Amino acid sequence: MDLYEHQARELFADYGVLVPDADVADTAKEARAIAERLGGKVVVKAQVKTGGRGKAGGVKLAADAAAAEITARQILGMDIKGHTVHKVMLAQPVDIESEFYVSYVLDRAAGQFLAIASAEGGMDIEEVAATRPEAVARIHIDPAVGVTADKAAEIAAAAKLPPESADILVRLWTVLTQEDAVLVEVNPLVRTANGRLMAIDGKVTLDDNARFRQARWGDAESAHDDPLEAKAAAKGLNYVKLEGQVGVIGNGAGLVMSTLDVVAGCGAKPANFLDIGGGASAQVMADGLSVILSDPEVKSVFVNVFGGITACDAVADGIVQALGEVNLTKPLVVRLDGNNAAQGRAILDAHAHPLVEQQPTMDGAAQRAADLAAAK
Ligand SMILES: Nc1ncnc2c1ncn2[C@@H]1O[C@H](COP(=O)(O)OP(=O)(O)OP(=O)(O)O)[C@@H](O)[C@H]1O
Ligand SMILES: [Mg+2]
Repeated sequence: MDLYEHQARELFADYGVLVPDADVADTAKEARAIAERLGGKVVVKAQVKTGGRGKAGGVKLAADAAAAEITARQILGMDIKGHTVHKVMLAQPVDIESEFYVSYVLDRAAGQFLAIASAEGGMDIEEVAATRPEAVARIHIDPAVGVTADKAAEIAAAAKLPPESADILVRLWTVLTQEDAVLVEVNPLVRTANGRLMAIDGKVTLDDNARFRQARWGDAESAHDDPLEAKAAAKGLNYVKLEGQVGVIGNGAGLVMSTLDVVAGCGAKPANFLDIGGGASAQVMADGLSVILSDPEVKSVFVNVFGGITACDAVADGIVQALGEVNLTKPLVVRLDGNNAAQGRAILDAHAHPLVEQQPTMDGAAQRAADLAAAK
């Protein structure tokens, strides 16, 4: 789970990392009140879980509280890489002397954490890494040892950061370990005109496997910004919302992934990823269908099942029961193959729902679902 910048800021402050005074607003009026409280002049920052906010016009300086209100009104509702801005953070402007980059990220392949740091921080760190890799220090951290004062000094020296940043590097490491994060990034870490080091922007990704001991950020449901994903999470479904029109249900993550590819290959866009797993009970099928059908973008649904341990007749029974529970409003294309395919197909044929049709192959079914979506 990714945190918003304002949540990352809150964590940094808890662990003794200096951050600008700031607060969050979801209306322009509220933004104005916060700006007044912060002394008028503020930086207005879109809160979205994606990078490149500044370049997209989502980070702007406002000269006074009235300007902050106008700027907040411009930024709220803005779309940044497919993320709608629902909140802005108002931060006290900092007199920046220089900008650095520091991060810790889990390096799964190495079985270690990796510290990445550079004295050339700011908005274009990706470009620095691509064009002048020598300006970016990369140092592995043994998770059993962590970032000691010595290790922090080593990272700071390798990246040519001011030596006093070692203290912050240790504190950020504590954020990572105590909060069960797999990414902690500060860009920029700045030195202010009066010589203090301050975290101006932060990204933190928490390890979802540790959610049970990080109650502060709520349950799995509230971790989803998308209402459909939240609804699916509440039902325990493995669902990811995408941008297309063809709803997809399959059994097994691999099959669902290839189903997305095949739907895309037919010139349509999949509306979601949904793996109902093995078992595929009627309840899971009904829950899955109800989530997909409540997506207004969906024009057709493709149920792609390969019977293995769970035979197709059991899945077909599940589909029939699910159709009794949800109000099917969109065409459903079903492909059943594998174990007991013939029995499964016969069950669906016998049920003869006017909006349900069967296709014998995955490619054929994907094409049919794509055509139905295009025809709507
Ligand atoms: N409180 C502040 N005071 C002064 N300057 C700021 C402040 N916040 C941001 N800035 C300036 O704006 C730049 C961009 O801000 P920030 O890093 O928060 O957004 P971003 O990097 O564009 O966003 P993203 O992380 O989405 O890529 C900073 O590098 C800094 O120069
Ligand atoms: Mg940044």
